[in-house]
Amino acid sequence: MCGIFGFVAANPLPAELVVDALRTLEYRGYDSWGIAYAFQRDRTTTLVVDKRAGRIPAASPAYGSTTIALGHTRWATHGGVTDENAHPHVDCTGTLAIVHNGIIENYRVLREMLERKGHRFRSGTDSEVFAHLLEEILTTSRSIEPNGFELESGHLLVQAVRQAFAHVRGLNAFIVLHLPSQQLVAVKSTSPLVIGIGPRGVFVSSDAVALVGHAQRVHYVSDEEIVLLRQDGPLFFDRCTGTPSLPRWEPLTLRPADTSLGGYPHYLIKEIHEQPRVIERIIRNRLDGARQLADLIRQSYGTFLVGCGTAGYAALCGSYLFSRIARRHVNAVIASEFKYQEHFLTDRSLVIALTQSGETVDVIEAVQAAKRRGARVAALVNVTGSTVDRLADFTVPLSAGPEQSVLSTKAYTAKLAVLLLAAHILNGSEHVGVDVLWRAVDGMEQALAPQTLDRIRAVADRLVDAEHCYVIGRGLSYPTALEAALKIKEVTYIHAEGFAGGELKHGVIALIEEGSPCIVVSPLDETRADILSGAMEVRSRGAWVVGISPEPDDAFHVHIPIADVGDASPLVAIVPAQLLAYELAIRRGLDPDKPRNLAKSVTVK
Ligand code: AGP
Repeated sequence: MCGIFGFVAANPLPAELVVDALRTLEYRGYDSWGIAYAFQRDRTTTLVVDKRAGRIPAASPAYGSTTIALGHTRWATHGGVTDENAHPHVDCTGTLAIVHNGIIENYRVLREMLERKGHRFRSGTDSEVFAHLLEEILTTSRSIEPNGFELESGHLLVQAVRQAFAHVRGLNAFIVLHLPSQQLVAVKSTSPLVIGIGPRGVFVSSDAVALVGHAQRVHYVSDEEIVLLRQDGPLFFDRCTGTPSLPRWEPLTLRPADTSLGGYPHYLIKEIHEQPRVIERIIRNRLDGARQLADLIRQSYGTFLVGCGTAGYAALCGSYLFSRIARRHVNAVIASEFKYQEHFLTDRSLVIALTQSGETVDVIEAVQAAKRRGARVAALVNVTGSTVDRLADFTVPLSAGPEQSVLSTKAYTAKLAVLLLAAHILNGSEHVGVDVLWRAVDGMEQALAPQTLDRIRAVADRLVDAEHCYVIGRGLSYPTALEAALKIKEVTYIHAEGFAGGELKHGVIALIEEGSPCIVVSPLDETRADILSGAMEVRSRGAWVVGISPEPDDAFHVHIPIADVGDASPLVAIVPAQLLAYELAIRRGLDPDKPRNLAKSVTVK
């Protein structure tokens, strides 16, 4: 839920480099930000900390150069959004700084212990505990290590961080800056960390996107490791035993173009427009993955698609696709609920985790529950090297490229494409699946065309001040209705709700009043007659009806035309809703990439 970053360099680098990296990580949380770095004047080195509530400014403050720094962009969990609660946090001596991603579940008992030992806390956060705990351990250790030599080599520092980390409970990642030895230590459990090495230094980040332009090779830190970052390179140790370990370096394939806005005003609209190319790549490069996924489903006795939010709706859509295409019963379960249903899992079960980030804690816990029961785990993941990617027995990479808007769009349609292919492969009709996906690529292009956008903008003009909005769909379009509503609500703060069209008369229709906006998703399939009846029912009660459909109908006040692409309709029908959410956010003066209270990766419960 937060973004953390740090570097150690042999030659001084601008400390602003950290702020630029935090800007790239800001999608992980943007309540506050801060940096800490070593500032040398004459022969004196001091630790400078600058941290503030609010978003990172467009222009980085001028800090000067340094050989060691770290930074943090926060999604608040414990402690309000204030300057004092912003990270980094320092110890009493002002020579240790830490940044943290996660929750220290036992912070209260640790804080009370440390306060009894005289430590003075400045913030109301759980994170600050780690700085004082480490200080306490180092002070005690130093009393044992007479010459502090160990500290210089960093091994005492590593031991101290190992010991401190063993005291904290929860899913956490820390970066520690130790001023006297000019070293960083990085350690994690579940929350992500990646080490990058390049010509200018050694870097550590929550996400590889922040290493672009700095690192040529990366190593994804595992829960079993602890890393010492020094000017002459990183050292890796086993977190439990302290013995040296070897990294698994791999090339950093991301390029600046992958993470830049590419001429678009926001990541959300860039990523919406990238979708046709993403689906093309899946058709060309992911057929083998879809085939292996189909084999795993074929071999399993009980398959469960699990995901959260948008990924959860992709899972639901998948259950419809496997039913109608392959006549296969595949369960869809919201990941945060899955652990309450794990009882019937067996070693013949297959759990397929759908997750863009691969770091969503609810999905990680669902995967861990599946593994506890001996079930096989597959995953559809966009971030390579992420926790779910590494936990799964088999992964189909979505290869959608970095998704930096908090709203998930291209990763959603990418998941649907893989699931549709797997369903057709399971059915022995792979070529039909490929053909219908190519039609979906064309359909997405049409949905992104200016003439369609003009109609969407007219709807946005009408809904700009709406408080509520309803979206209905049936069958394959029911998950589309849910996802469309989520896109609208999370970026415009309009109370948008998605419903199964058949549910209108079971209570929902009581909400309809004069002028109530109601979006109807109506592809040319077996749901059309019934969903149009529902549209007429709300229209007759005063609703203002927008139809997303290949054909117009009397029930619609406004018709947004989409291509008829059969079973691939969910990939196309969602595009107008994504565009509408974006256009509404712009009109309401909101940030389309960073909605309030949200973060891209929900790594805390
Ligand atoms: C989607 O627009 C939301 N930001 C959110 O629901 C997201 O899909 C959910 O948190 C799951 O994230 P994941 O795909 O990275 O696991």
